[in-house]
Amino acid sequence: MRQKIIAGNWKMNQTLEITHDFITELSEKINQKEKSKQIIIAPPYPFLERAVHWSKGKGIDIAAQNMHQCDKGAYTGEVSADMLYSTGVNAVILGHSERREHFGENDEILMQKVVQALENNLQVIFCTGESFEQRKTGKHFETVQTQIEKALFALQAHEIEKIVLAYEPIWAIGTGESATSGQAQEMHAYIRGNLSERYGKAGAEKIRILYGGSLKPDNAKEFLFQKDIDGGLIGGASLKVVDFLKIIESC
Ligand code: PGA
Repeated sequence: MRQKIIAGNWKMNQTLEITHDFITELSEKINQKEKSKQIIIAPPYPFLERAVHWSKGKGIDIAAQNMHQCDKGAYTGEVSADMLYSTGVNAVILGHSERREHFGENDEILMQKVVQALENNLQVIFCTGESFEQRKTGKHFETVQTQIEKALFALQAHEIEKIVLAYEPIWAIGTGESATSGQAQEMHAYIRGNLSERYGKAGAEKIRILYGGSLKPDNAKEFLFQKDIDGGLIGGASLKVVDFLKIIESC
């Protein structure tokens, strides 16, 4: 039985004060049952160290939304995996479509980021997903397969187990238009099939695959009960405790 993950990607939202209040309220409201799930929030960089402090022992893990692929050096404005780990952060989101689109992150860079993150003991949430055009032209399976193969398949079996995948169709992110739960399950099964071919069935069965893209309190249940959907990566609906909590409670 794979442990469910509910992860909130705050993107460039919230303030330090809101981060404090959010963690305080959420930790008060998550009960014992919810604690069997892995709950992650990914605030912006400046709030990470405080967020780690406020969430300690409360059943909430803190993730970064990105990191640089090099370990250190002359990269003004960038943050390394080692720096994140030293603040107590234990996970990082890599390959989000917004990073691929606006910051030129390609498969090669992502492969380097994944290796850096694992070397620094960070759990990786690796995002993959197709554009609307790619889905319309039937290229969605091929697109996702290529992204995963190029960035991840050089990893050894013991390394891939530390990766959490997140299938996020780009056309469903922030649009209010989620994929159908059937489309998501179909892609998740396909991804697991690919992992199985590369790492064997037993290895593939251990890997968690999250769905992301307009996941909300009113559609979460439908997604989170699909056979190959092991949780959610949530943007908009992770910004308010009430919505995020409802999603946590629906799996
Ligand atoms: P959304 O974002 O839930 O607002 O669609 C998901 C994401 O970008 O991870």
